[in-house]
Amino acid sequence: MTVRIAPSVLSADLGRLAEQVAEAAAGGAEWVHVDVMDGHFVPNLTFGAPMIRALRRLTDLPLDVHLMVERPEQYIVEYAAAGADVFTFHPEATVHVQRHLATAREHGMRAGLALNPGTPLGWLEEVVQDVDLVLVMSVNPGYGGQGYLPASTSKIARVREVLDSARSQAVLEVDGGITVDTIARAHNAGADTFVAGTAVFGDSDPAEAVRALKRACLARA
Ligand code: DX5
Ligand code: ZN
Repeated sequence: MTVRIAPSVLSADLGRLAEQVAEAAAGGAEWVHVDVMDGHFVPNLTFGAPMIRALRRLTDLPLDVHLMVERPEQYIVEYAAAGADVFTFHPEATVHVQRHLATAREHGMRAGLALNPGTPLGWLEEVVQDVDLVLVMSVNPGYGGQGYLPASTSKIARVREVLDSARSQAVLEVDGGITVDTIARAHNAGADTFVAGTAVFGDSDPAEAVRALKRACLARA
């Protein structure tokens, strides 16, 4: 099964953003994860379209944008124009989830649905054919550097069953507390794409940190 690493620039040294992204790419990172927070859906406040535009100029890697914001539909057109490749939002943050997934696709992006630890899978089941990516949150979103919640592993396995029984080819991505000690558990449960902030940019050698995560995926959980 594919293993794709998506380092989160939330944990990068933003004063050295170009260098940090290049280091992650040199280690084999496939995507760049961008955590957008609005101070309402989650308490923290981060960045938006200017960061996506800046990253678009810095790298050819796909930009995996994760919106932890209320009313994410406000940003579909702007983020597509800024260069986002994946547009992932939380269903509780809006009303017309199916419409917004479809609109993200119409604007040339992959449509992603993010599930918090407390979010039931029913949200996914109702729109599974409209989803190109499922993001299973293995922490409660808002901050980097939190610990992987153990219940995430069975949730990933249940999402895998939902996708397989719907014959969906959607990406199954995990976000939060991914380290060399937790990644194999998530991978064995059926995830193929792994967000890593602290584990990559908290390391003095981000390229080697990406390689270490990939190696750890091959280990038994
Ligand atoms: C959490 C964010 C994550 C975060 C992951 O709110 O969605 O993407 O950056 O950070 P680590 O890997 O440090 O748990
Ligand atoms: Zn994220």
